[in-house]
Amino acid sequence: MRSLLGDHLLQRLQQDVDGKLHQRLFRCLQGAIVEGVIPPKTRLPASRDLAKEIHVSRNTVLSAYEQLQAEGYLEAKTGHGTWVAEQLPEAFLNTPNGKQRVGLRNPPRSYQLSQRGSQLIGYAGASPYQWGAFVPGAPDVTEFPHHIFSRIQARLSREPDIHHLIYSNAGGCTELRSALADYLRVARSVQCDPDQIIITEGIHQAIDLVSRALSDIGDPVWIEDPAYWGMRNTLRINGLNIQPMPVDADGIVPKQYPEEPPKLIFVTPSHQYPLGSHLSLERRKSLLNLAKRYGSWIVEDDYDSEFRFSGQPYPSLQGLESDAPVIYMGTFSKTIYPALRIGYLVVPKPLFSSLRILAAELYRGGHLLEQKALAEFIREGHYEAHIRRMRLLYGKRRAYLVDLIKRYLGPEFLHEYNDDSGLHLVLKLPDNCDDVAVASAALERGIKVRALSQYYMHAHAHAERGLLMGFACVSEKDMVMAFGVLLQCLREANIPTRS
Ligand SMILES: Cc1ncc(COP(=O)(O)O)c(C=O)c1O
Repeated sequence: MRSLLGDHLLQRLQQDVDGKLHQRLFRCLQGAIVEGVIPPKTRLPASRDLAKEIHVSRNTVLSAYEQLQAEGYLEAKTGHGTWVAEQLPEAFLNTPNGKQRVGLRNPPRSYQLSQRGSQLIGYAGASPYQWGAFVPGAPDVTEFPHHIFSRIQARLSREPDIHHLIYSNAGGCTELRSALADYLRVARSVQCDPDQIIITEGIHQAIDLVSRALSDIGDPVWIEDPAYWGMRNTLRINGLNIQPMPVDADGIVPKQYPEEPPKLIFVTPSHQYPLGSHLSLERRKSLLNLAKRYGSWIVEDDYDSEFRFSGQPYPSLQGLESDAPVIYMGTFSKTIYPALRIGYLVVPKPLFSSLRILAAELYRGGHLLEQKALAEFIREGHYEAHIRRMRLLYGKRRAYLVDLIKRYLGPEFLHEYNDDSGLHLVLKLPDNCDDVAVASAALERGIKVRALSQYYMHAHAHAERGLLMGFACVSEKDMVMAFGVLLQCLREANIPTRS
C-alpha cells in the first residue's frame, strides 16, 4: 500500500512535467517541504521504498534527496535515514549574510500556507495541460466556430453598452439569463425564468457559492463516491463535513435514515461523474422525498448532458416536480470551451436575490461583454447548431475508442455503467491493479489518462480501479497511436492485452 507522501508525489509529478525526472521529483519534494505538506523534522521514506511506491528508479530518488540535502532542505546520517531540516533554507533568505538574526523586530516571514491551504495542495487535481489523448472532459476546442463568436464580440466591443463595462450585482448579463432560460426549458426541461438564473465563472464557482451560501463550516454534505475532485476540493476548503455515498447502476445510493441529515446533496443525475450511470426515476423520486423530509438542498451538476449519442436525452432532476428542492448547475465549458469560464445556476425564486448579492460580494462578477456575445450566439441559433455538430463528432470518436478497447483488450474492460454519452468513458482494470501507477506511466509517455481510484474520497478502501479516457478532443488517427502506447503501459503492468 502506498503512503500519503507517495500519493502526494504521484499527483504532483503529474502536474510538473518539465525536465528530467529527478529534477521534477526534486521540485515536488521541495514544494511539499516549503508549503509545510511535509513538516520539519519529518523522516522521509528510504530511497528504495519511495522509488518502489512512485515507480521510479532508486537513483532518481537518491539524486533528488542529494540535491535537497545540498540545498539545506534535508539532513541525513548514514544508517539513521533522511529527514526534513528543522530550519529550512527559505528562513535564511531574508537576512543579508544568510545567518539567522536573533531578536528581530519583525519575525522571519513564513511561506507556509494555512492548514487548509496546504491540505488542498495535497489534494490538488488540476493538470497543467488539458489537451490531447485522452484528457477526460475536454471538448474539441478547435471545432468551435470562433469566427462567428469573435465577429459578434468585435461588433459589441466597438460600441459597448455601458452596462457591460461597470460593476454589477445583477447575477450576470440579463440577455444571457433570458436566452439561457429559453434554452434550458426546452433542452433540459428545467423549470425556470430568467430571474432564477445567476451566471457564474463555471460550475466550480457555482459549487463554491452554493456551499458557502447554504451551509456552514462543519455541516454534513453528501457527495457521490466517486465524484469530481474539483467538487470535493471546493467543499473541503469551505470546511464542510463531506460524506461520500456509494454509486450503483441507478446512480447515488443515499442513506435513507441518516443520523445527521445533509444540508446539501451533490449529484450528477444525467451522467454520473465519473462512472457514467444515470439516476433512475425511482431514485430521483426517493432523493427528492429525502430532501423534502430533511430540509436538504439537492445540487444538480448537469455538466455534460448535451452529449448523448443515442436514445432519449434524460431530462433534468430539477424539472421533475414543480418547486423541487433542487439547485441546478450548468456550464459552457464542455459545449464551447473551458477557458470561457461561464456557467450558471438556476435557483428557486425565493433564493435568487440573496444568492445574486452573495455572488457579487464574493466574486464581483464581470465578463459581461462576453456574456452578451454568448446570448447573441445562442439567439442566432449558432449554439444549438454547434452542439448538434459536436454530438455527431464525439459520438463517432467514442464509438472508435470503444471499438479499440473491445478489439485489443476485450469488452470486459468497458465499465458496465458507461453509456453512450459524455466526453469520456471508463476503462475498467482488475481490482488488484495500481491504476495510479498505470496513469503515471502513461503520462510519462504523453498519454493523459486519469486513475479512477483517485476520484474516490478514500482512494484505498473500496475504490474501483480503472482509467478515465477522454475521447472528445482526439482525432481517430491520434487515438490509434495513443492507444498503442497505453496498451504498452498496460502490458508492463501485467494486464493481458489481445495483441
Ligand atoms: C462533473 C463536473 N462538474 C463540474 C465541472 C467543472 O465545470 P466548470 O468548468 O464549469 O467549472 C467538471 C469539469 O470537468 C466536471 O467534470
